[in-house]
Amino acid sequence: MKTPAVELRGVWKNFGNTEIIRGIDLAIEKDTIHAMIGPNGAGKSTIYNLITGRYHVDRGQILLNGEEITNQTPHEINRKGISRSFQVTNIFHRMSVFENIRCGMLWHRNYKYSFWNFLGRQGELNRRTEEIMVRTGLASRRDVLAGMLSYSDQRALEIAITLASGADVIMLDEPTSGMSHGETEQTVELIRKVARDKTLVIVEHDMGVVFDLAHTISVLVYGEIIACDVPQRIRGDRAVQEAYLGTEVA
Ligand SMILES: Nc1ncnc2c1ncn2[C@@H]1O[C@H](COP(=O)(O)OP(=O)(O)OP(=O)(O)O)[C@@H](O)[C@H]1O
Ligand SMILES: [Mg+2]
Repeated sequence: MKTPAVELRGVWKNFGNTEIIRGIDLAIEKDTIHAMIGPNGAGKSTIYNLITGRYHVDRGQILLNGEEITNQTPHEINRKGISRSFQVTNIFHRMSVFENIRCGMLWHRNYKYSFWNFLGRQGELNRRTEEIMVRTGLASRRDVLAGMLSYSDQRALEIAITLASGADVIMLDEPTSGMSHGETEQTVELIRKVARDKTLVIVEHDMGVVFDLAHTISVLVYGEIIACDVPQRIRGDRAVQEAYLGTEVA
């Protein structure tokens, strides 16, 4: 088997005495879209926080392209190639779209510590920022303050900022939450476009989005993966239907 982009081996996480993540094994193949689904409180965001280094792993290992990254700092993990968006929007409202994206790029490359380096590379940074704006459909909003954007454009900007880091693995937490049907469709198209040369992990409650986008799906219930497979087989999995999906996807 090819080396997975992201791999979890026997990962455990407790909060106090409560086992929240209970021995997760998961391998996500490079350049695919993997969706993680499960009821509220199942531990999806916690897994994101473990993979990205925001929470400490109690037991087990996390690997990126076969290299162990368990319990490294969020900054180290980000620089090695994992970038995430947050369930709550995470943008600077009083900066323009252009500035937000460029800021994401600078932060990732640590230019804040290297002023001369920054000056020398400004042209390249601006070019990449423009590229990302085009890719995420934000070019026409270039100079608009992020706080003035529509909700779905703000979410697109969030995705743009995760791209700005140059990471190969992009993790999105509920990218279509709170969106109208039309906005959701737009966002699905955006994700598909963005995913072309990336590994994408999405947590999403909208089953239409999940089954439309994902190459593989894992189902998390009370901190355990009860099924991990291609959408077609997840749809037909009785345990999944009983535990979570009900008649929603039937
Ligand atoms: N920092 C924390 N301290 C204590 N408990 C936490 C912490 N973070 C998460 N939990 C608990 O861990 C469990 C899993 O939470 P998590 O946010 O990962 O769920 P989720 O699957 O993302 O849910 P949702 O679909 O509602 O976003 C919940 O019971 C939550 O209360
Ligand atoms: Mg969550």
